[in-house]
Order: sequence, then C-alpha cells, then structure tokens
Amino acid sequence: MIIRDAVPADLPAIRDIFNDAVLNTTAIWMDAVVDLANREAWFAARAQQGYPILVVVDEANAVVGYASYGDWRPFDGFCNTVEHSVYVRSDQRGKGVGPLLMRALIERCKAGGKHVMVAAIESGNAASIRLHERLGFITTGQMPQVGRKFGRWLDLTFMQLILTPERSAP
Ligand SMILES: CC(C)(COP(=O)(O)OP(=O)(O)OC[C@H]1O[C@@H](n2cnc3c(N)ncnc32)[C@H](O)[C@@H]1OP(=O)(O)O)[C@@H](O)C(=O)NCCC(=O)NCCS
Repeated sequence: MIIRDAVPADLPAIRDIFNDAVLNTTAIWMDAVVDLANREAWFAARAQQGYPILVVVDEANAVVGYASYGDWRPFDGFCNTVEHSVYVRSDQRGKGVGPLLMRALIERCKAGGKHVMVAAIESGNAASIRLHERLGFITTGQMPQVGRKFGRWLDLTFMQLILTPERSAP
C-alpha cells in the first residue's frame, strides 16, 4: 500500500467509494449519489484552498481509501480548525487502511499550520469512533437526533484533536 496525493485520474474510484458510503452507511448524511463532476468540483476546491486529498493505492494503483479536510466553519475565527473525512473501500475495511490514512493526514494538517482537527461522526459508527480514539481524539460533543437517514433519527458525535496544544493563539 502506498499513500500519495490524489490526482484527477483517482476521482472515479473516489466517487465510487463515496457513493457506496451514501447508499449503504450513515457516514454521509446524503440520500442521492454524486457524479464525477461533483468530485471534480470538490477536488478543484480543495486544490484552490491548498488542502490535501490523500489516497491509499494498492500494487495496481487502485484507490482503496482516501482522506481529506476542509474548513470547519466559514468565519475568520475558525481558520485554524478543520473538519476531515476518511473513507475506506468496503472490501478493505478492518485492515488498518483508515489509521494509515489518518496518521498521514494529521501530519499534513500539522505541517499546514492548523491547530485543531474535528471529526463529525454518526454516533453508531463504532469503527470510526474507535479509530479516532486510538489516534488521540476526544469526544467533545453529542447532538441527539440532528439528522435522519434510512427512516430513523441520527445522532452526531463530535471528536477533536488539538494538534499543537502548546501554541499561542495568533
Ligand atoms: C471508519 C473507517 C474509516 C475505519 O477504517 P478501517 O481501515 O476499517 O480501520 P481499522 O482497520 O482500524 O478498523 C477499525 C475497526 O473497525 C473494524 N472493522 C471495520 N470494518 C470492518 C470489516 N468490514 N470487517 C471487519 N472489521 C471491520 C475493525 O476490526 C476495527 O476494530 P478494532 O478497532 O476493534 O480492531 C472505515 O471502516 C470506513 O471507511 N467506514 C465507512 C465510512 C466511514 O464510516 N467513514 C468515517 C466517517 S466519520
């Protein structure tokens, strides 16, 4: 497995991983799948902001997972905080790909001068909560019934990691 920055040729595989999560999980609170143009616009927006999209590829250069981050909230005061996402192809979960991606993303985030990473996780997503706990994230928010999917209410758990605890506010 190799981790590298995503390139446009990776976007069909990223779209497929994203759409599988839309259709089969509560990781993404959307009902409808997206097309390639949607992922191209996302890729361009991340590039324009200077934010990374990392992929893990197998020996055949096929994408088996990806991770990225964007601004948490669009106000000046939140400019040192990001919200990230991490997705592993369904047939590759439980093999350590998620932790691999997250460790690389945390390093990129630190190098990019950010202070806090936020994960917004559906409260029943035990695999994601465990993954984040192992990486040092702590739970800082619980929001019952703020979403709905598959005919039921969804609760949201916020977890965060302070990357540079010793740093003074700019
Ligand atoms: C959450 C996710 C990123 C974790 O990545 P991963 O590569 O599966 O992470 P790990 O290999 O460390 O597995 C995490 C845990 O889930 C378990 N697990 C997850 N999927 C599994 C599967 N299909 N088969 C077996 N175990 C699985 C692992 O055993 C492990 O449990 P453990 O910590 O008790 O050992 C990945 O499962 C995923 O992409 N899920 C769907 C999308 C999603 O929820 N994204 C996060 C949104 S906040």
